[in-house]
Amino acid sequence: MDEPLPLKEAASLYGVKLDRLRRAAWDGRLEARQVGAQWMVTRHEVERFLRDGDRRRKTPSPAVVPKRGACMARIIAVAVPKGGTGKTTTALNLGAALAEQGQRVLLIDFDPQGNLTQALGLRPSELEHTAYSVIKDFLTRYESQIELAIHQTKAGVDLVPTSARLNLANDELAVAIQREFVLQKLLAPIRSRYDVILVDTLPYLGVLVLNALVAASEVLIPLQAEYLATESVALMLDQIQLMRRSGLNPNLIITGILLTMVDQRTIINREAVAYARNTFGAQVPVFTTMIRRSVRFPESQASHMSILHYEPLGESARAYRALAEEVLRATPTQ
Ligand SMILES: Nc1ncnc2c1ncn2[C@@H]1O[C@H](COP(=O)(O)OP(=O)(O)OP(=O)(O)O)[C@@H](O)[C@H]1O
Ligand SMILES: [Mg+2]
Repeated sequence: MDEPLPLKEAASLYGVKLDRLRRAAWDGRLEARQVGAQWMVTRHEVERFLRDGDRRRKTPSPAVVPKRGACMARIIAVAVPKGGTGKTTTALNLGAALAEQGQRVLLIDFDPQGNLTQALGLRPSELEHTAYSVIKDFLTRYESQIELAIHQTKAGVDLVPTSARLNLANDELAVAIQREFVLQKLLAPIRSRYDVILVDTLPYLGVLVLNALVAASEVLIPLQAEYLATESVALMLDQIQLMRRSGLNPNLIITGILLTMVDQRTIINREAVAYARNTFGAQVPVFTTMIRRSVRFPESQASHMSILHYEPLGESARAYRALAEEVLRATPTQ
């Protein structure tokens, strides 16, 4: 009897990359059935797939056609209205860790500071197509040309970079029709090509962050482990409520709060971690994984690398891998 087995087991049984089977299952080249969070496949079907090469099945059975929406990327806004809490660091390294686990990842640099763009080794001033240029183009034609701005990077993720010109979008969007929906419309044609899209945002609430929160299905909130930072998280939670109640994004959910720059050696910091867990833990998910303070983060960014490439076996890389696993397991709550 050819009992279906999980894709992971099939990959190791046949000595092929899990990602190859997973992608084939997504787009119907491999007949697989989704049971809960797992894709199941028969040995016979894996052998057929490997024998026929990657040729697409002529008539995919209904079981292999992904449910509508099932192959749409999760869009996660990394957001909190406070500077320097680890938003960009998290977008970069969580993205790299998800890619390492076989996810197709797109990062959007939606902060005119361009830190994410620079950390990935692109020079904003030399780029013809950026988040700004596609917004500007969209506002004249109401057509998404975002593909032009997608760059491949060495971190294993794709990137829509930005430049300081994105500052101009604040004024331009202010007078635009449906100004909060521009990013959502820009992403619509490419959403099915990725598993996860992470949007790095700027540290204050304005029309750009509003666009990110409308486009997003989820929000990940990095919280620096110190007392004063908790106020900005409360503000973020209020903003998320507002997004839901106003109807701008009724289904927006919270992936979780991530404690960053944790330094367990100091009592103050330990207390701040406990305070944050107690204050927010009952309301929204707080990731078990915490990101410790480490000089490796600024070092890796200065070297235009993710922490996973810079120090693959270090504690910081392990932390972002653990976070990626939590994000993949997460059943985000309202
Ligand atoms: N866990 C960490 N340990 C030490 N330094 C860190 C850590 N995370 C981030 N940093 C450093 O702190 C600085 C701010 O981090 P980051 O740019 O990710 O914050 P941000 O929230 O994106 O800031 P902004 O609000 O300005 O966009 C950067 O120099 C980064 O390298
Ligand atoms: Mg940033």
